[in-house]
Amino acid sequence: MAVLLPGGAGYIGSHTAVELLNEGKEIIIIDNFSNSKPEVLDKIRKITGKDFKFYEIDYLDREKLEKVFEENKIDAVLNFAGYKAVGESVQKPLEYYTNNISGCLVLLETMRKYGVKKFIFSSSATVYGEPEMIPITEECRTGGTTNPYGTTKLFIEQILKDTYKSDNTWDICILRYFNPVGSHESGLIGEEPKGIPNNLMPYVARVAAGTLKELSVFGDDYDTPDGTGVRDYIHVVDLAKGHVCALNKLDKEEKGLYIYNLGTGKGYSVLDMVKAFEKATGKKVPYRITERREGDIATCYADPKKAKEELGWEATKTLEDMCKDSWNYIEKNS
Ligand code: WQD
Repeated sequence: MAVLLPGGAGYIGSHTAVELLNEGKEIIIIDNFSNSKPEVLDKIRKITGKDFKFYEIDYLDREKLEKVFEENKIDAVLNFAGYKAVGESVQKPLEYYTNNISGCLVLLETMRKYGVKKFIFSSSATVYGEPEMIPITEECRTGGTTNPYGTTKLFIEQILKDTYKSDNTWDICILRYFNPVGSHESGLIGEEPKGIPNNLMPYVARVAAGTLKELSVFGDDYDTPDGTGVRDYIHVVDLAKGHVCALNKLDKEEKGLYIYNLGTGKGYSVLDMVKAFEKATGKKVPYRITERREGDIATCYADPKKAKEELGWEATKTLEDMCKDSWNYIEKNS
């Protein structure tokens, strides 16, 4: 029985593919390379020494997707095929709603048609909007997303809840990621944002590499220890391992709809990140304080207790690992 990974050539998909293969799982990747590269597939094979099937298709293409389900024995689906750039989603809302929501609906309908009901969804801490409390627990209110990307995550969560309510033979796990950073220690796979990065860590790495001149720190007047925004950065390999634990839970336990935060429970400010990156890499990261970025919140970090208790998962990599591995990927791939 295989695990299907739409978007498995992307940043989080490729790291999860590695961890699933390392655990001896059979995987099938589908990807249209809209935000990833074909070379990644061989890099996954190189890291793990294992092979897998791949289909170059768009998960919105129902006919081709059905063929994948006809040709293979699929047991579970982990969906990594969502678009994820916040700024781009404001410019292209229809593309985001179509790819993320319609794509996920085609996937779920196809799964239902072929009797596959185990599903793991990549959600985001963004569904909490302005958080009700810190650290954020899974019980905190959701809603109030400030961009179409975040709204697609919120809507899909609702679609999954309604689907499970209508038919409790579905077995669903929603994983709410905090801020994924870093790369596999081999430096073979990593994050490759299109154009100038929006997210902090890839931006910092490019400033250190000299590709970008300086970092703009978006505001130093937040109600945080040093005035800059505080986030829960999580190493992508820890995050990937969280998916393996979630899949094991769905395999073992009663059917249900489960929701987990995947974060470290630690908050670091923008300036903490700059300092940690400089220390881990020996490179200077020049920065300038600028205006706040619209839609940003002061502080966001997880209470990761539920994932520890119920999945037996917790993040183990340090901030130094995150910085070193991000830098290693940049050095090996530029
Ligand atoms: C982190 C901190 C910025 C860039 C977003 C999405 C979320 C998730 C991860 C994605 C903030 C500050 C940033 C810069 C800065 N999804 N910053 N200068 O906004 O917490 O979360 O990415 O795929 O859904 O909303 O992450 O990395 O953009 O910002 O000062 O050039 O760094 O203000 O405090 P964010 P981020």
